[in-house]
Amino acid sequence: MTPVLPEGIAWPADGVPDPAVVGKTSKNLSLYIHVPFCKVRCGYCDFNTYTVGFGEGADISSYHQSVFREIDLAAQVLAPYEHNPVQSVFVGGGTPTMLDAQHLAEVLGYARTKFSFAPNCEVTTEANPDSVDARSLETLAAGGFTRVSFGMQSAVKQVLRTLDRTHDPKRIQRVVKWAQQAGMDTSLDLIYGTPGESLVDWEASLSAALSAGTEHISTYALVIEEGTKMWKDVQRGHLPMPDPDDEAAKYELADLLLSEAGFAWYEISNWARLEPGESSGTTQLTYASVHNLAYWRDDDWWGIGPGAHSHLGNLRWWNRKHPRAWADALGRGESFLSPAQAGEELTAAERSLERFLLQIRTADGLGLSEVDPDLRGRIPALVGQELLTLTGNPNQGDAVLQLTLQGRLLADYVTRELTV
Ligand SMILES: C[S@@+](CC[C@H](N)C(=O)[O-])C[C@H]1O[C@@H](n2cnc3c(N)ncnc32)[C@H](O)[C@@H]1O
Ligand code: SF4
Repeated sequence: MTPVLPEGIAWPADGVPDPAVVGKTSKNLSLYIHVPFCKVRCGYCDFNTYTVGFGEGADISSYHQSVFREIDLAAQVLAPYEHNPVQSVFVGGGTPTMLDAQHLAEVLGYARTKFSFAPNCEVTTEANPDSVDARSLETLAAGGFTRVSFGMQSAVKQVLRTLDRTHDPKRIQRVVKWAQQAGMDTSLDLIYGTPGESLVDWEASLSAALSAGTEHISTYALVIEEGTKMWKDVQRGHLPMPDPDDEAAKYELADLLLSEAGFAWYEISNWARLEPGESSGTTQLTYASVHNLAYWRDDDWWGIGPGAHSHLGNLRWWNRKHPRAWADALGRGESFLSPAQAGEELTAAERSLERFLLQIRTADGLGLSEVDPDLRGRIPALVGQELLTLTGNPNQGDAVLQLTLQGRLLADYVTRELTV
């Protein structure tokens, strides 16, 4: 096999990219596997997902075989980099649990034959509450999955209807219990700011997520993505645009209720349940997602599947978006091409800006040394406006900037002030 990776970047035929182009890699490696199928397309979602299959290798029943092929490719290309054992695997979508649980377990088993895995490797799959049952969750746990992230979105029927969600809100309690009984941790995704959602509705959703007994909660402000059904409804005036003040009030309520319930934020949209002895203000939490942190810490990862993005040192590339084009590139015989669509090589300045944008969002915050010396004069005003805290000693090089609650609400403004 002769991998050619990725188009647009000088990448020799033996599959080993020029170290000068790759630059400094992280020792840590993660894998992302995209599954581009959903039963129903939610009106707000613009993820790369389809409600039909596209033939062999791009159908739900045979998709895992194409994934095996990209795992082969990744293992070969990454071999010279001597990463530490894989620290996290995240199967996302779409709705990965549209695939047979046994096929998902086989994908993981296959990856284990090609990469060495850390003993405590975190293996997450996303799931729609409708697409799992007690048995399929047991199969996933037996296959090595350690964590399930459920798309809950809301506990209020009317809000779920506006979002085109089909599950019964009562099902959340059951799927969390089944996953935990099978030995896995859980996370629940919530969306706030849906047209017609009141503050009382949002409080009910937070309370329901907490009473389900989950270990992790992600809260996302509804984004009206261009081209989606919901975007068209907003354009036509059938639905109102989410109100930023309403969304800010809902974020503040989430922060209050989740911290009162013993959760701590470790990234703007992510909260983990604290274990005894743990405290907030850090990402070092038992239930923080290792995979999320890998993204925010500039680790390396390979994204498998249509449209998936990869990150290796200075290189970024992304796969062909359509499942058929992706599966065809991987082919069936002995030789295959890379499914990459295009890529780019970041300069040192672009890479440090990328790191800045990601790290400022975390509870660990950002070292003062990461801020351009010409812009540091703006920090006292941001601290004065109670958007940032500055701790440590700037003269000893250990000073750290962390967003306050108000700073999290205005993170884009703070980032602009410190980068432009
Ligand atoms: C791939 S889905 C999760 C798994 C599964 N497909 C489901 O929806 O149940 C990832 C998450 O992204 C969030 N999401 C997707 N589109 C969004 C949007 N336009 N605004 C805010 N959150 C969004 C939802 O919370 C969703 O649970
Ligand atoms: S939110 Fe989840 S279930 Fe809905 S279309 Fe997007 S990926 Fe599919």
